[in-house]
Amino acid sequence: MQLCYHNNRFENEVMVSPRQLKILINSKELAEAVGRLACEIERDYQGKQPLFIGVLKGSFVFMADLIRQIDLPLELDFVRLASYGAGKESSGTVKVVQSPQMPISSRDVLVVEDIVDTGITTSFLLNYLKKKKPASLKLCALTDKPSRRRVAVPIDYLGLIVPNKFIVGYGLDCDEKYRNLPDIHTQED
Ligand code: IMP
Ligand code: MG
Repeated sequence: MQLCYHNNRFENEVMVSPRQLKILINSKELAEAVGRLACEIERDYQGKQPLFIGVLKGSFVFMADLIRQIDLPLELDFVRLASYGAGKESSGTVKVVQSPQMPISSRDVLVVEDIVDTGITTSFLLNYLKKKKPASLKLCALTDKPSRRRVAVPIDYLGLIVPNKFIVGYGLDCDEKYRNLPDIHTQED
């Protein structure tokens, strides 16, 4: 299990410093990737009113930047999933904690994900949404960690491929920390 923080304990005080973080993708590279994805999506959904479904919590920063680059009458919703397992590993059991509030039937649905890692969560979500009979169902993922894949997932719009390292920042967390970092970092030992 990787550590999120470098903890120095002085009696009752815990000093936390993010010393192990190293920038992998800086904010300029992220903005370029988001701009490219927005162009592709805008081109493909001309004449449509897509429903974007962001996967909470990790996709919220990406989603916020993405939608502001897209000139379409799109609508938004969110889904929250829980994957039960120890540490950073998906257990393979995914549960819908908060389902989308808007009707999905006959809508052009675009799922917005922060990362496809093992693929277990995204694959589950796509199957879950497919049962609600959307007119179309596509996936946009900011990052892809293909070396970890256990379940095949078709990514229609992909931002960046990342190495087999745990990443944080730009919405991605480690134990709920680091979502606010503007760059994506790896955690180095
Ligand atoms: P899955 O393994 O593809 O099912 O990924 C499940 C979820 O784990 C993703 O939606 C992310 O929220 C989270 N996750 C996977 N890899 C990372 C990572 O490197 N950093 C932060 N979160 C991750
Ligand atoms: Mg997460």
